Amino acid sequence: MRDTLKLAKHLAGLGYGSRKQVAIAIRDGRVTGEGEDLRFDGEPIDPPHGMVLMLNKPAGFTCSHADQGRLVYELLPPRYQKRDPKVSSVGRLDAETTGLLLFTDDGALLHKLISPKSNLPKTYEASLARPLEGHEAALFASGTLVLRGEEKPCLPAQLQVTGECTAALTLTEGRYHQVRRMFAAAGNHVEALHRNRFGPLRLEGLPEGAWRILTGDEVAALKA
Ligand code: URA
Repeated sequence: MRDTLKLAKHLAGLGYGSRKQVAIAIRDGRVTGEGEDLRFDGEPIDPPHGMVLMLNKPAGFTCSHADQGRLVYELLPPRYQKRDPKVSSVGRLDAETTGLLLFTDDGALLHKLISPKSNLPKTYEASLARPLEGHEAALFASGTLVLRGEEKPCLPAQLQVTGECTAALTLTEGRYHQVRRMFAAAGNHVEALHRNRFGPLRLEGLPEGAWRILTGDEVAALKA
């Protein structure tokens, strides 16, 4: 009996239903195996607390728990929204920005990764409305660029020009609409934005709209 209660509490915390619903599922034989081989309706149980996953975010989805428009959480299994502690995105991408977005249920890791002190490099591929003029890389690397409405200059950022109207910008901070505002400050306009790197992680072939759980090694690299 005690083991059933413990198992029901564990599975309810992973979003499989209320404790009562899960206890009924256990009674009905829907939960099989044990330890690493525990299954619900024949499917392996979701990872326990400390889960980190990456999504290749499509355009048009908002990074918010609020109940309006299309939300990035709709792209994950609904069960993940019933987990306790809940799964949250690690920072945000604008609705129209695509690419690498992390999620975790580990509050300490979340705060570490979004802290201004984290300094993790993030790389954004930008498509611009106008050709680059040649002064942008020096401006972004200078550590003196002050965005409109702000006082503190942006930390030095690295710009790699990849075409007449395309470039990859690597930042170690994450201010509101930062990439768009940096290019605006340089007299240009970002038409499309895609993040392909977050610290040690790359999207590496994950299709748009798809997600996957990070491996133990990837999580360790993120924490390092
Ligand atoms: N900078 C932006 O302007 N938008 C994002 O989504 C991320 C970084």
